[in-house]
Amino acid sequence: MPRSCVRELLSSRPGSDLISFGGGVPHHSCVPLKDIQAAFETVCTRHGAQAFSYGSSEGEPELRDYIASEWLPRFGVDARPDEILIVNGSQQALDLVAKVLIDPGSAVAVERPTYLAALQAFSAYEPVYREVPLDECGPMPDALATHLQTAGCRFFYTIPSFQNPSGACCTLGRRREIVEVMNRSNALLVEDDPYSQLYYEKKPPLPLCALGASRPVLLGTFSKLVAPGLRLGWVWARSETMRHLVVAKQAADLCTGRFSQFLVLETLRRLDIDSHLSMIRAVYKSKRDAMHMALTASLADLCAWPLPAGGMFFWVKLRYADVPVRRLLARCIKNRVAFADGASFFATPSAQSFMRLNFTQPTPSEMTEGLMRMRRVLAE
Ligand SMILES: Cc1ncc(COP(=O)(O)O)c(C=O)c1O
Repeated sequence: MPRSCVRELLSSRPGSDLISFGGGVPHHSCVPLKDIQAAFETVCTRHGAQAFSYGSSEGEPELRDYIASEWLPRFGVDARPDEILIVNGSQQALDLVAKVLIDPGSAVAVERPTYLAALQAFSAYEPVYREVPLDECGPMPDALATHLQTAGCRFFYTIPSFQNPSGACCTLGRRREIVEVMNRSNALLVEDDPYSQLYYEKKPPLPLCALGASRPVLLGTFSKLVAPGLRLGWVWARSETMRHLVVAKQAADLCTGRFSQFLVLETLRRLDIDSHLSMIRAVYKSKRDAMHMALTASLADLCAWPLPAGGMFFWVKLRYADVPVRRLLARCIKNRVAFADGASFFATPSAQSFMRLNFTQPTPSEMTEGLMRMRRVLAE
């Protein structure tokens, strides 16, 4: 299994002078702390000790209901509550999907690049990766069709909206093409959607799972909407897939924490979700713009990047492909600045050098200072 450079950065308890562009953590001002605190009291009063008991492996019925009948209809997804599984962060869904679908040597299609922690989750089950390159419209349908036909992939894992790490957003036309290609095969469409509500220009198109995919598995999370430390996500899948995911979930942890589920539901009921999301978008859009300005001022001659229209990251390409990014990162950390090494986001090695830079955490002055520190190391 590959190591996670991001997790290691987050766990290294760096001194306070380290400026990190490494993780994908929401900004503390975007966590609805007051509502969570009030929800805490309400849950304790309403449920008493029961809130801290074991729950069902599928998840609390009220929360599954909320997701099926209040959240997913916003995205054109017509789901039944019994088609929802509550998981311990969508990271757990990645593991359960892999546990159910991958045997050693099974082919799995992933985007190139793709989310490093998905590669970590899948790799434990020893798949063979088939990579689908991305162009400016999204994953390339011809490459996907070839992999599905020639390798018999078990599933295609995609992050269509503001992809982690590239920030790319798949167009509506391309989403329809991908669905068409998927529906000609037996492979499942595993769509991961943590970022679609973090848009800074225009709303992304509907999820692929709402556009007629015949074997959909949609992953969602409360990490970016409420708080990542509550470790709460969900999966929507049809019953023939769901029953296997539930068994895998039983074996993994019996159930997701009951208290977190009640707490999130109560928090969501207190929040005005639309204004909460608008507030988050406003905070991150201004951070994105500050980061773009700081990058332009300090690294434009050494690197190139697209402006992300959503999500949490800049995907920065070094103009010199032979820069050993791992060593660059080690030097940068010595100089008190960190980022995620782009190499971790490729299932097979890339000839080009990339860095993934988070913009939701640092302040504008940290951005300027951190990027100047990076510039000095790069120039050396
Ligand atoms: C693409 C993607 N999938 C899944 C996750 C995991 O989210 P969770 O906190 O729900 O486990 C993340 C978190 O950053 C992510 O970027």
